[in-house]
Amino acid sequence: MRDPRFRVVYGSAARVRGILAERNLASADHIISGLPYRNMTDSLRREILDESRLALSAEGSMLLFQYTRTLQPYLESSFGSVKLNFQFFNILPALIFHCTP
Ligand SMILES: C[S@@+](CC[C@H](N)C(=O)[O-])C[C@H]1O[C@@H](n2cnc3c(N)ncnc32)[C@H](O)[C@@H]1O
Repeated sequence: MRDPRFRVVYGSAARVRGILAERNLASADHIISGLPYRNMTDSLRREILDESRLALSAEGSMLLFQYTRTLQPYLESSFGSVKLNFQFFNILPALIFHCTP
């Protein structure tokens, strides 16, 4: 990607706030996430979602694409608002969760 703002970071999503702070970034405007939450332990899943919500600015949002609804109750307990859409044209067709703090 030829954008000088683009940075690749090797690290766990569970410490996204630390990763932002190391780059002098106070918060994230948007998070896009396609992690395999379904294969994670319950505690890691909650940790990543809570950490992501805390990393967002007040007007920020998180978009997650998933192939099952496993995450939905976790999102609904972590975020103030969760909207679910379906993207038929993805390969495989995917559920899109749009979450705001
Ligand atoms: C199925 S791939 C999806 C990759 C990407 N989202 C995409 O759609 O191209 C899952 C990726 O999640 C990463 N991953 C799994 N657990 C993670 C975690 N706790 N923090 C950050 N990345 C993680 C894995 O390293 C792997 O690259």
